[in-house]
Amino acid sequence: MSIPRRTVLSVTAAATAATALPAPAVAAGAGDQVPAPQGGGTERNAVLRSAADYAVEKLRAVAPGVSGFPVGTRFEKWTYSRNGDWVGGFWPGTLWMAYLHSDDDSFRTLALDAARGLAPRQHDTTTHDLGFLFSPSWVTAWRLTGDDTWRTGALRAADTLIRRYNPRGRFLRAWGGLDDPNNAGRVIIDTMMNLDLLAFATEQTGDRAYLDIAVAHARTTQRYFLRADGSTPHVHDFDPDTGAPIGPDTVQGYSPTSCWSRGQAWGLYGFTTTYRRTGDPQFLTTARRLADYAIGALTADHVPVWDYRSPQQPYDIKDASAGAVMACGLLDLAAATGRDSYRQTAIRILTALSLTCLTRGSARADAVVARCTRNRRAEDGIEISLPYADYYLLEGILRVLRPAAVDRAIDLSLP
Ligand code: GLY
Repeated sequence: MSIPRRTVLSVTAAATAATALPAPAVAAGAGDQVPAPQGGGTERNAVLRSAADYAVEKLRAVAPGVSGFPVGTRFEKWTYSRNGDWVGGFWPGTLWMAYLHSDDDSFRTLALDAARGLAPRQHDTTTHDLGFLFSPSWVTAWRLTGDDTWRTGALRAADTLIRRYNPRGRFLRAWGGLDDPNNAGRVIIDTMMNLDLLAFATEQTGDRAYLDIAVAHARTTQRYFLRADGSTPHVHDFDPDTGAPIGPDTVQGYSPTSCWSRGQAWGLYGFTTTYRRTGDPQFLTTARRLADYAIGALTADHVPVWDYRSPQQPYDIKDASAGAVMACGLLDLAAATGRDSYRQTAIRILTALSLTCLTRGSARADAVVARCTRNRRAEDGIEISLPYADYYLLEGILRVLRPAAVDRAIDLSLP
């Protein structure tokens, strides 16, 4: 597609304006200070609005050719999964966000069509990712259409998810089929983002069992993942038979003692949501500790390095998707704590992504956000686009520009 010149120029003008916001406490390191437009909210919002407009244009051009669930790009073009892998919720979710920003009904139709493709996954007992799959797609579809098919499907997915609960260790296992002994005691920080599906199920059915499992899992994560400085490992292993803790590990981070930036962002967002759904202040404290660590590890350019403790950090490759997730979590945390500094950092991250990570320069690109890293450790997907970066960038921008619309879609209520 062709990118309108007018939009490029307006963003460039904003980018070159002088800094107006007080600089947050971030680590010294690679990259220029993120340019913050002068004039406070109005001009900052202009950068974010322009990025959301760009996303809508890109989606309008690309969506008719999308032939499955985007999982990541290769040479700037989406590659697809038929069943959605763990990411299938983000494509309908992104279309829902485009619908909210544009009021264009064609995005609503596309979102519903895409969500239908996830139907078989309601019964998938091989993964914890049912929250990622069903929250931004089916739960949002129900909230925005009122069609009960989506609500009951999401509840079925919650029923499937709680089958992964190990009562001895008080955790939801991340990976593998229920009878598969491999990975049976493996817990990962990402699962914090799947717990909201269980909160939804309790809210809808009145059955506490779902939320009780979510809370038990969150407490286990809180107890074993949190380091003294607020950083987290990607993985913690347990003996699946006794529930006894074994120790930290990693699959997508640099090492068991490092801090994979997207995992830290999943944790900060997930603990904030868990606080909002339970009102338990301990979860808010944990979310703040994760957030404060990640903010302190951010480089001045406000695009997270892929692992905050990799040997080459802060001069290592970036993961814009970690920034998008982190920004959404920080906006949630700002609302939950009343602390504006979290909101200001979130807006700086969203501004940085909008000014330095979009695919604006490429007519070839299928995605909105570039400069993402899927799995650096496996040398899989470095400097690519990822569907969750597009989704969370739009969610974050709309949390700033259209909070009431986002509230309707994903329920931002405080306890
Ligand atoms: N949940 C897997 C990832 O963030 O890559």
